[in-house]
Amino acid sequence: MKVAVLGAAGYVGGELLRLVLQHPDVTEIVATSRSQAGKPIADLHPALAMLTDARFAAHAPADVARGKDVVFLALEHGESAQMMGEIIDAGPGLVVDLAADFRIQDGGLHERYYGPHHAPALVHRFQYGLADVRGTSLRGARAIAAPGCFATAAQLALYAIAELPVSAPPVIFAVTGSSGGGQKLKATAHHPSRAHNLFAYPDSSHRHEGEILEQWRGWRNDRTAEARLVPHSGPFVRGIYATLHAHLDPAFPSVSFAEHIAGRFLGRPFVRVMDTPPELTHVVGTNLALLHATPSADGREVRVFCAIDNLIKGAGGQAIQAMNLALGLDERAGLIAPGPFPC
Ligand SMILES: NC(=O)c1ccc[n+]([C@@H]2O[C@H](COP(=O)([O-])OP(=O)(O)OC[C@H]3O[C@@H](n4cnc5c(N)ncnc54)[C@H](OP(=O)(O)O)[C@@H]3O)[C@@H](O)[C@H]2O)c1
Repeated sequence: MKVAVLGAAGYVGGELLRLVLQHPDVTEIVATSRSQAGKPIADLHPALAMLTDARFAAHAPADVARGKDVVFLALEHGESAQMMGEIIDAGPGLVVDLAADFRIQDGGLHERYYGPHHAPALVHRFQYGLADVRGTSLRGARAIAAPGCFATAAQLALYAIAELPVSAPPVIFAVTGSSGGGQKLKATAHHPSRAHNLFAYPDSSHRHEGEILEQWRGWRNDRTAEARLVPHSGPFVRGIYATLHAHLDPAFPSVSFAEHIAGRFLGRPFVRVMDTPPELTHVVGTNLALLHATPSADGREVRVFCAIDNLIKGAGGQAIQAMNLALGLDERAGLIAPGPFPC
């Protein structure tokens, strides 16, 4: 397969390159960057030196997309929408966008979180790529919007309880590592601000709530259903740890949450339901999502814990998993290498 990665110099682009370079079905890769064009890929991503001596290509979206089986876009928010028309017109087999531009089908919901859309006519072409939930229903997709990192962890926890009688909007307290913010320097990303520190996002909200709401409403079959994401920045580089808390209808007989949730993810190769709360370092470097659910002592509340690697399950790994599913490949292809531990 011939693959292009646009925005390959960023954190997500680098992780995508690491994974596609090791994918058994990928034979040719073009990696583009405006800022790094002409430089060896391994200058910017030194860990890839063992896998490639290629250089970043110039950013020419239509030319790069032409003749490719798969085009990944790992660009800043808003950029995909500006170039998606010419990329689709160039006729690649599959487009996978890792930005937020095409994740939300409901125009009003998109506008509430991101403002006006720059390519609204293309949104309906995209399927939402929450791979561990969509599974083989992604087969044949030509355009996939890969979910956000916070959104992936939150939605896996929400999907676990989507069939339970929840009596109030579930709340998901989630903590991300610093790589979630990308390469750009920001005051909140500096080492002295981040190390040995923990803080909530300024207005206690995150734009990923938009895509979370759209999926949650679909699973609940309720266009007014609500869920709240309360995002935090944590003192580590990789990973997201999400803790969902939900009240259950008092009339509901208590169930074995472990069994219920295992049933929701039956046969899904990258979701493991654990007997105890997961740990972040057990998922770092992997495409795994580790989940655990437990009731309160009186059985009226449920807590679901989910740990993922934001750059793999929350970005590049999930995008490749979705590609595998869309193209009818082995879902696990290129994604089974274990992560380092301890890390
Ligand atoms: N970080 C995450 O955990 C995560 C998870 C899921 C989705 N996403 C989404 O994926 C997209 C990319 O995120 P990201 O975290 O990879 O952002 P990033 O590291 O900031 O990279 C974004 C872009 O910055 C550009 N860039 C400019 N100067 C650069 C330099 N000196 N070195 C490297 N790159 C430079 C690159 O494009 P040019 O070189 O062409 O300018 C690159 O594509 C975003 O839309 C983000 O929302 C991120």
